[in-house]
Amino acid sequence: MHTGTTLTQFIIEEQRRAAGATGDFTSLLNDVVTACKAISNAVNKGALLGVMGSLDSENVQGETQKKLDVITNDIMIRSNAWAGHLAGMASEEMDTVYDIPTQYPLGKYLLVFDPLDGSSNVDVNISVGTIFSILKAPVPNRPARPEDFLQAGTKQVCAGYAIYGSSTMLVLTLGNGVNGFTLDRDVGEFVLTHRNMTIPADTREFAINASNRRFWEAPVQRYVDECLAGKEGPRGKDFNMRWVASMVAEVHRILTRGGIFMYPRDTKDPAKAGKLRLLYEANPMAFIVEQAGGAATTGYQRILDIAPDGLHQRVPVILGSKNEVDTVSGYHHEKAA
Ligand code: AHG
Ligand code: MN
Ligand code: MN
Repeated sequence: MHTGTTLTQFIIEEQRRAAGATGDFTSLLNDVVTACKAISNAVNKGALLGVMGSLDSENVQGETQKKLDVITNDIMIRSNAWAGHLAGMASEEMDTVYDIPTQYPLGKYLLVFDPLDGSSNVDVNISVGTIFSILKAPVPNRPARPEDFLQAGTKQVCAGYAIYGSSTMLVLTLGNGVNGFTLDRDVGEFVLTHRNMTIPADTREFAINASNRRFWEAPVQRYVDECLAGKEGPRGKDFNMRWVASMVAEVHRILTRGGIFMYPRDTKDPAKAGKLRLLYEANPMAFIVEQAGGAATTGYQRILDIAPDGLHQRVPVILGSKNEVDTVSGYHHEKAA
C-alpha cells in the first residue's frame, strides 16, 4: 500500500492555494488524467487488443493515422466532453475544432492535445505519450472558434504529458514548477514520485534526427558538427547522442538527466517551418521545460512568445538544458546579424 501524495490530492491542494478557484479546473484535470490512464491501458495491451498498425486514413497534416491515433483521440474526447468545463477541444487528429455536443454544458476552458505522440513507435514497443495543454476560453460558455485557440504559449494555464514507457508517468506544470507522478496500477492512481523536476543547465547529450542533416540551416549544422568533434573540437568535450522519435520520451529524458532536443527548421519541405506543431507539441513542452529551469526556442524566438496563426501550425523546436539552448540560439543570431 502506497502512502505517497496522489495526483488527485496534489491537484486539490493546488486548487486550495489558488484564490477564487471554483473546482472547475481541478475537475477538468482529473478527467484528462482519467483519459491518460485509459490510454495507458490501450497502449499497454497492444496487440492483445488488436490495435497495432495503420488505418487507410490520413489526418489533416497528411500523416497516415495509426489505429491507436484514432482510438486515443476518441478516449480524450469522451473523457473530457461531458463535464461542462470546456468550450471546445483541438487535437492533432482532428482537422478543426471539436464542438462540445449540445447535450452537454459548456465551460470556460479550452483543451488541446496530441493524443498519441511518437505513434510511429507503437508497433515496435517503444515509449509513446500524450501531450496536453489547457487555455482559458476568451469567451466562456460559448462554442469555441478556431481563433480562440490561437493564444501564445505564455497564456497556458497548465501543460502536461503522460509517458507510456517502462512505467507510466504523468508530468505536469501549473506554472509553479514541474512535478512527476508514477501510475500505481494496483491502486489506479498516479503517485507523486518526482517532486520539483529540474533540468541541469549544462549537458553533454543532444538529440536530433541526423538523417536530415543536409536540410538543416547553417547554425544547427555548426552546433551538431561541434558536438561531434568532441574533445578535439571547439567545445572541448565529448557529447553523447540519442534519438527516440517520440518527443515525449526525449523531453522526459531531458527532465530526468538534462540534454538538448532539436527538431529544427529544415528545407526538406519548404512549405513547413518545422515538423512539430505549436499548440499541442511545442507550447506545452516549452512551458514544462521552462518551468523546470530549461529553455525552448525556434533558434530566433522563445517558443512561448510566438503568436499562433493556425491550429496545426508547425514550428522549429530547440529545447532543454539552458546553456546549450543559448549556445544554439547564439549561433542563429550570429548568422542573422
Ligand atoms: P506524432 O507521432 O504525434 O506525429 O509526433 C511524432 C513527432 C515527435 O514525437 C518526434 O520527435 C518526431 O515526430 C519524430 O520525427 P522523425 O520521424 O522525423 O524522426
Ligand atoms: Mn506528436
Ligand atoms: Mn500524435
